Amino acid sequence: MLRAPRQRDIPAWFARATDVESASLAGDPVPDDMSAGERWLARSRQRLADGKAIQWSIDRASEAIGTITLSFATDAKAAALGFVLARAHWGQGLGSEAAREVIRYAFETLALDQLTAEAVTRNVASLRILAKLGFKHVESFVDESDGEHCERFALDADAGTSLLASQA
Ligand SMILES: CC(C)(COP(=O)(O)OP(=O)(O)OC[C@H]1O[C@@H](n2cnc3c(N)ncnc32)[C@H](O)[C@@H]1OP(=O)(O)O)[C@@H](O)C(=O)NCCC(=O)NCCS
Repeated sequence: MLRAPRQRDIPAWFARATDVESASLAGDPVPDDMSAGERWLARSRQRLADGKAIQWSIDRASEAIGTITLSFATDAKAAALGFVLARAHWGQGLGSEAAREVIRYAFETLALDQLTAEAVTRNVASLRILAKLGFKHVESFVDESDGEHCERFALDADAGTSLLASQA
């Protein structure tokens, strides 16, 4: 289930954010202390209010196990997709399920023209999810901030909606 992030998600967010391997795969900074959780929630809510992003908490059995985010481009009906799950829930199809749900929302409800996504080249699970959901490889690049080899993908609305229909 996807829902808006809330205050009591902060401890679970902090546990995920301080998983060094997960943060490195996602290209996220590792926070120093729990106060970063308040900033995460405030930023998430502010970006929603500003129309810059929608972030959902992913719930399973009433536990917040991850987040999935659409970050909107300024000049087009496009958004970047990003997701993070707690390690205990990796490899059970939950990342694919959440991504499929958000892709459907992006094209059917928000009527976006395109979704984009980036992943570090060593992030096999992420690359697999994007390929399964129909994202096409756009280019390889090196992240100048850390020298990581990365891949960029895009999914157009036509391809996305017909793939979702065929997988329904
Ligand atoms: C990326 C992430 C969200 C994936 O979620 P998940 O629920 O574990 O992924 P799923 O189980 O839905 O699917 C992963 C797919 O990758 C495959 N996969 C995972 N690890 C793999 C590996 N090392 N080698 C080959 N395939 C692998 C799985 O078999 C599955 O493919 P399948 O459906 O064809 O069997 C999760 O691993 C995560 O949070 N990682 C850390 C943060 C991160 O990397 N975020 C993404 C930034 S772009």
